Amino acid sequence: MAITRRGFLAAPAALSAALLPGGLLAALEAETPPIADLSSWESVRDQFALDPAWMHFASFFIASHPAPVQAAIEAYRRAIDRNPFHVVEHGMFSDGADNIHQQVQAEIAQYLGARPHEVCLAGNTTTGLALVYQGLPLQAGDEVLCTTHDHYSHHEAIRLAIQRSGASMRKVPLFEDAAAATADALVHTLLKAVGPRTRVLGLTWVHSSSGIRLPIREIAAALRARAGQPVLLVVDGVHGLGATDETVATMGCDYFCAGTHKWMFAPRGTGLVWASAENWARLRPVIPSFTDLDQYTAWERDAAPSSPTTADRMSPGGFHAYEHQWAAAAAFRMHRQMGRARVAARIRELNNQCKAGLAANRKVRLHTPMAPELSAGLVSFEVEGLAPADVVRQLAARRIVASTSPYAVTYARLAPSLVNTAEEVERAVRAVREISG
Ligand SMILES: Cc1ncc(COP(=O)(O)O)c(C=O)c1O
Repeated sequence: MAITRRGFLAAPAALSAALLPGGLLAALEAETPPIADLSSWESVRDQFALDPAWMHFASFFIASHPAPVQAAIEAYRRAIDRNPFHVVEHGMFSDGADNIHQQVQAEIAQYLGARPHEVCLAGNTTTGLALVYQGLPLQAGDEVLCTTHDHYSHHEAIRLAIQRSGASMRKVPLFEDAAAATADALVHTLLKAVGPRTRVLGLTWVHSSSGIRLPIREIAAALRARAGQPVLLVVDGVHGLGATDETVATMGCDYFCAGTHKWMFAPRGTGLVWASAENWARLRPVIPSFTDLDQYTAWERDAAPSSPTTADRMSPGGFHAYEHQWAAAAAFRMHRQMGRARVAARIRELNNQCKAGLAANRKVRLHTPMAPELSAGLVSFEVEGLAPADVVRQLAARRIVASTSPYAVTYARLAPSLVNTAEEVERAVRAVREISG
């Protein structure tokens, strides 16, 4: 008898369906209040339980759960606490519409412009990058090229992967001064850096050091157009997803890794990797999956699966905090309701205001490009005569949450987002003016 998805890693199947009449999703929906009207930014801000005593300019660090996400987490938590076995067994392993894991993949895919089976749920950007680099069939002599500007998680994901394969890594600077960068120069510098042994290029879409946004579409097109060995493009997209109006699956990258617990407002501890079926098939899985039936049935026969690797097979198995993983769909629904273009335009407007205000201060050096197409939701800057940590401390004394960038060379950062108002941006700019003397 062919095993069904429901038989996968679970036991008495028919029982749970009987105990969940009308379907789990329908039952949960009944417990979850409808999303409020999000047509004004004030109503969007009302969804967050942020402490009003502070102005929050570091929301990109880790999300405050907005009301629809909080409600979904609570609904799933209550259901799991009432009946952990049946709810998790049903939500993960049932066939058809009640499989919540697949529902989450479908919701995310819609936002990315992808197909549901191309979406791998991973706990954060770091895990996604590690899965991809560890999964790539790198060999001695291969080179992974990346930039000096990438995040710790990206550099270390590459370093740990090449240690095992005997491949090498090379970091190149893309610019001296991010604020003066142009799209053409970025593409040119990158293409020049690709060498005969380069098999993989790792890039960061929106840099959390300088705030620059790389023109991934143009870079991907230029990579494809060049002669020579193909180069796979891996993108850390965490600060672009939910902050820009992009259709990720058509950008031209081969692997897109992003936490969804920053700009997307999905539950803390959620993230994704997107790739096409062809690119998933290139990878060697790293962690046993709980969502790939072929892998499980092969194991039952004491064999390795013979079918190609898929997003599901790359998805780390073991049981998870399902109330968080499943509630990610609520965040993507919220973004769909707000409208991707509208969200991006709002973030752009507030960031333009912030950059213009800071640029008018002669004691401030902006590191983020002014051009909206080369920036997103992060504004990095230095104040003459002050260490970035002191800038952040002095802003905190004025009840403004700013942050320093966690890099060898660090800057102060303000990140105007959907939780902020134009008045708050004005007050932050004014506060920087006060502390710059
Ligand atoms: C560019 C970049 N990549 C990766 C990460 C790590 O993100 P995650 O917590 O989703 O692993 C960060 C953290 O803020 C980051 O700024």
